[in-house]
Amino acid sequence: MAKPPLSFVCQSCGATYSKWSGRCDACGAWNTIVEEQPLSAGPAAKSLGTKRGKGMALTDLSSEEAPPPRAASGIAELDRVLGGGLVPASAILVGGDPGIGKSTLLLQAAASFARAGTSCIYVSGEEASAQVRMRAQRLGLKDAPVKLAAETNLRNILTTLEAEKPDLAIIDSIQTMWADNVEASPGSVSQVRAASHELTRFAKQHGIAVVLVGHVTKEGQIAGPRVVEHMVDTVLYFEGERGHQFRILRAVKNRFGPADEIGVFEMTGDGLAEVANPSALFLGDREQPQPGAAVFAGIEGSRPVLCEIQALVAPSPHSQPRRSTVGLDSGRLAMILAVLEARCAIPFSGLDVYLNVAGGLRVREPAADLAVAAALLSAREDVALPPQSVVFGEISLSGALRPAGQAENRLKEASKLGFSTAIAPAQTKALAGEDMALRQYSDLAGLVGDIFGA
Ligand code: TYD
Ligand code: MG
Repeated sequence: MAKPPLSFVCQSCGATYSKWSGRCDACGAWNTIVEEQPLSAGPAAKSLGTKRGKGMALTDLSSEEAPPPRAASGIAELDRVLGGGLVPASAILVGGDPGIGKSTLLLQAAASFARAGTSCIYVSGEEASAQVRMRAQRLGLKDAPVKLAAETNLRNILTTLEAEKPDLAIIDSIQTMWADNVEASPGSVSQVRAASHELTRFAKQHGIAVVLVGHVTKEGQIAGPRVVEHMVDTVLYFEGERGHQFRILRAVKNRFGPADEIGVFEMTGDGLAEVANPSALFLGDREQPQPGAAVFAGIEGSRPVLCEIQALVAPSPHSQPRRSTVGLDSGRLAMILAVLEARCAIPFSGLDVYLNVAGGLRVREPAADLAVAAALLSAREDVALPPQSVVFGEISLSGALRPAGQAENRLKEASKLGFSTAIAPAQTKALAGEDMALRQYSDLAGLVGDIFGA
């Protein structure tokens, strides 16, 4: 039989090429393409399988066959992100930068699940059992009924799972696992893909929920979690800014619950602590209203979250002024600056612009546009926004303001935290029975004229 030709696989996204190149066309990453043995060819196209599958009408699924209920961990921030608890026999990927706290989170989750009656096994491919036990001791989880295993060989892990039959298996991390029938080094796309595939298939067959931990890598030395994303039911990313103690667990895909839901945690000396009221935390160290700061009334998943958007605008010594953002999309900033220039005749050329979301939150909602514009204008004109005010609304390229979804939730949260004014697009409905004044504008120029007198 002819040897299958070699293939070249991007270690970041898994795209396959017939020859090497420096940049992956699919994901744009540089230096991530590596030569790999192709997976062995499957059965010839014309041969049919010997086992017949059976079709089944949707209505045939009787209520007795309804899946068992979700298991709650008791960590409310985690259960909400999972869509109300762990679905039995589901596969979950938890991705994040190295050192962000994935192992800490999952060890705490394992202990919590185990104490709530969900039997749990934690397989570490990175640390010895003694080290995991030491960490558990430090986190005050020493007596939780969690089983530990230090193993990287996939076959051994599957054998262990088959014997132990836990409700939940945590694999930390998928990049350290290796299947001995795949000729590639651990961490390569082939290995990560094969190990994830085996584990998720095993999970579905045996009714075990699996959590796969995946490191996000920028250099492409080891395969990233994107290779695994489409194989699992739920994808969670654990994110946060280095230097901040806040960590956000975000659902980016969930077959069993809403995507975009977030759970907020704080990294402390004794592990991760839940943050039940993130708005209060993100606004915690806010001083009096200052030029350049706007409080954005945002929605993360199903929850309103207030955060402060800070801008600094200063004359630039460079021929090409700096545009720097932390926690916001830089493309969005460029668009807002262009709208301010074209529709409101407020140029930012010759000015450096720095934008920051306080507390390490990453804001992705278009409804943040107006708060960004307000912070930029406030910084440029050196005029503080009205005291105790929140801002939200989307800006279109014409400069018109579009109402944001879930306005009522945003206003309620703002009112609860003592804000008394909301700057929002026209058509935003006022909150009945609350003392919340609305300042509404149909376009950006209206806001500029009213608040900044420009
Ligand atoms: P870890 O969970 O090992 O990260 P990951 O598995 O994502 O690579 O977390 C490592 C960081 O967390 C480390 O820098 C120290 C910090 N940390 C604390 O601040 N408090 C703690 O109680 C623990 C266990 C870790
Ligand atoms: Mg780890």
